[in-house]
Amino acid sequence: MLLAPLCIAASYPDRPGKKNVDKLCGGCHGLKLMEPMRKTRTAWQASVEDMVTKGMKAEDDELEEVVNYFAKYFSRLNVNKASPAELTDVLDLEARQAAALVDYRAKNGDFKNFGALEKVPGVDRKKLAEQRDRIAFTTAAF
Ligand code: HEC
Repeated sequence: MLLAPLCIAASYPDRPGKKNVDKLCGGCHGLKLMEPMRKTRTAWQASVEDMVTKGMKAEDDELEEVVNYFAKYFSRLNVNKASPAELTDVLDLEARQAAALVDYRAKNGDFKNFGALEKVPGVDRKKLAEQRDRIAFTTAAF
């Protein structure tokens, strides 16, 4: 299981919500369609609501669970706007590291690129590299 963390961004982790993702999204087009996608929570919410208009049948609590799942594992986060809670939740950073990033940003201004993020003292570069395709620096990148 040594490589497991590297796989998270590219597949469907077996975490809460997965059962409903299988049940609701596996039907019409299958799960492969969404596998390479990275969207914000708002964009996932809109996609999932769109599926209801396309005929997907689901309870409200199931929809919420599925949106939460995609928002957590198939999301892109603007690190120049993210709160510490979002950094821990979406990028899987430790609370201490998330706080360090936000402090650094407050003192030095927005991060321009990935290299700038890696310069934050105490940040786990390996962890960041694993999450690289989920990190955005502007909202326009979504
Ligand atoms: C009732 C059938 C149906 C179900 C169930 C369904 N979809 Fe879709 N979905 C479609 C159709 C039809 C399209 C449009 C055709 C295409 O792009 O392949 C589509 C396209 C999409 C797209 C591409 C367009 C976009 O909005 O970016 C995404 C993403 C998507 N579905 C996500 C989901 C998710 C997430 C679920 C589970 C919550 C789901 N779908 C369940 C029918 C369905």
